[in-house]
Formats: sequence, C-alpha cells, structure tokens
Amino acid sequence: MRLGVLTGGGDCPGLNAVLRAIVRTGVRRDVSFVGFRDGWRGVLDDEPTELDLRTTRGILHRGGTILGSSGADPMRRDGGPETVEAALGRHGLDGLIVIGGEGTLGAASALSERGLPIVGVPKTIDNDLPGTDVTVGFHTAVQVATDAIDRLHTTAESHDRVMVIEVMGRNAGWIALYAAMTGGADMLLIPEEPFDIDESCSHLRHRHMNVSSFSVVVVAEGAVPAEGTMEPPEYPLDENGFPRLGGISNVIAPEIEKRTGYGTRVTILGHVQRGGSPVAFDRLLATRFGIAAVDLAVAGGWGRMVSRRGPDIVDVPLAEATGPRKVVPPELYREAAIFFG
Ligand code: F6P
Repeated sequence: MRLGVLTGGGDCPGLNAVLRAIVRTGVRRDVSFVGFRDGWRGVLDDEPTELDLRTTRGILHRGGTILGSSGADPMRRDGGPETVEAALGRHGLDGLIVIGGEGTLGAASALSERGLPIVGVPKTIDNDLPGTDVTVGFHTAVQVATDAIDRLHTTAESHDRVMVIEVMGRNAGWIALYAAMTGGADMLLIPEEPFDIDESCSHLRHRHMNVSSFSVVVVAEGAVPAEGTMEPPEYPLDENGFPRLGGISNVIAPEIEKRTGYGTRVTILGHVQRGGSPVAFDRLLATRFGIAAVDLAVAGGWGRMVSRRGPDIVDVPLAEATGPRKVVPPELYREAAIFFG
C-alpha cells in the first residue's frame, strides 16, 4: 500500500510526532508514503516530498511540521477535486492521510464524499474540533499559557497591577479556561460568554479591596463584549478571508484602568502557543493517532477520522469534523466561575 500524507491549517506542537508514528507504523504494515508540502497546496501544485524513516528521524520532540502547512483549500479552487484525484493516480497512491483542523478536514470530508479515499487526524491548539475529546497541540498551548500566567503573577504582585493576558481561541475558550484554572487566574473572558466590562471591573474592585492588590485576567482572543456594553474591535482579514484576531485585550485593558484606576498591562501570547516542543500528553496523543490512522487506512476505513473518546482511540465519520464547533459547555464555565467572578 502507498499513502500520501499532508499537514494543513495552522501548525501546532505534535504534528511531527504524528508523522513519525505514521511512518514507523507503515514500516510494520508494509505501507510506504509520500509527503505533500504545505497542506493541500502541495497536492494541488504537485509538490511531493520524501517521507520515510530517514526524513522522520529525530522529530518526535520538534514543534512545527517538517511537511510545512497552509490554509489552501481544494474545494475553493477551480477543478480542485479533480486535481487531487489526479495526484493520487500520478503518485500511485491508495489513499491520503490528512492531518488538520476545521478547514483542512472540511475539505477532506467533502472530497471523501466524492469518493476519494481519505483518513483524517484532528489537530488544533484551539481544541474546538467536534468528533474528538481532544486535538493534537491543545495541551501544549495550555502549558505555555499556564507558564506565562505563573510569570505574570509575580510581577503583578510586585507592582499591584492588573495583568491582562490574551491567549488564542478564536471561537472557543478552551485554552483560556484550562490555563486560567491551572494558572490560578482571577478573571476569565471567553467567546462563549459575552462579558460586561462594568461587571468585570466591579469584580476586580471587590477583589482588590478585600482579597489582594493585584489581579491576572485571562482573555481568549475571540472574547466578545455583551451587546451594548463596549465597541468590539475591527479585525483585518487574513489571506484566506478570515478575520485575523488578536488585540481584544488592548481594548479591554484601558477600560479596566479607566474604570478602576488600577495600573493595567497587556501580554498577548500569540504564536508562542503554537511553537516549540509538544508536552508529553501531545506526544502520546499524536503517536497514538498516527498508529491508528495507518491501521484505519490499511483496513479501508476511508472517510473516517481518528479520535480520542475517554481513554480510547476510536474512529468517527470525517463528516463529524464539519459539525458544530466544540465549545466550552455552560456547566464547565459555571464550575470554573467559582474562581473568576
Ligand atoms: O486555529 C488556530 C489558531 O491558532 C487560532 O487560535 C488563531 O486565531 C489562528 O490560528 C491564527 O492563525 P494565523 O497563524 O493564520 O494567523
């Protein structure tokens, strides 16, 4: 058997661990591979690259992806599906393993509905992909954010300041919520729960008068003000036509300072959360997903995605990745609210 492999969308720690596990499992199952550069772009523009034991050695702990990544989408290109099918034929491929998030796996799902043999592997630091409990990269992003909160705590305390830290999470507050809980933050703003800046400030005032003279506020980049409370920022569009988020905390911090009088500073973590070594959890998840993806392809489980459910690695229809986003449920937010408001 021969399979094509690609990594698409925003990169994350753990992608290389998936690639290494795919190749090592393939060796045991008599499967060979060809990699495609930069996600779907490498399939559409025919840019293959070697993917074997030699090219995947020593990459388990390395961030990024040796294949490169992009947001290219065959369903948005004229003749895209036909070009993908032709690439399969040209390279003698029995199928594709597609490692991606919402956009990349959305295209994989659409192509598999047209009969192309594809297996999916879910990744995104945002953890908002449906069909799996957890995605590759999420736990590393949480760890990076937790470490940053620890550091901000000490300087917040020294200067009696409010430290606003903005983490990624465009549609879902998973990173923000997990990091706020593990870092012991004092306030949490996530996209699922529009915030009222007046209420947030009275919470801070109450804390500073009764509990402590500093605060750490964790904000997900996709946090939104409740209607009629504050003007949300306008975001420029990126190369794929999606709003390029980042900077909501630069709007929130001056409002806090103005209303409370407390010195307030902003830290935007940005792509630091997507870079560097994967934590142990992500290395293990990525490795198990890589093994399962090859086994699924060998078994002819096309049109399916590997997934983690509880402690188990299972597989689900690829179409599940295109369902409603997995956002923070209200019960979990309420549980966390004991610490934040
Ligand atoms: O979806 C993952 C993510 O990291 C989001 O949290 C963030 O908004 C986006 O990607 C950033 O994308 P880019 O690297 O293209 O600016």
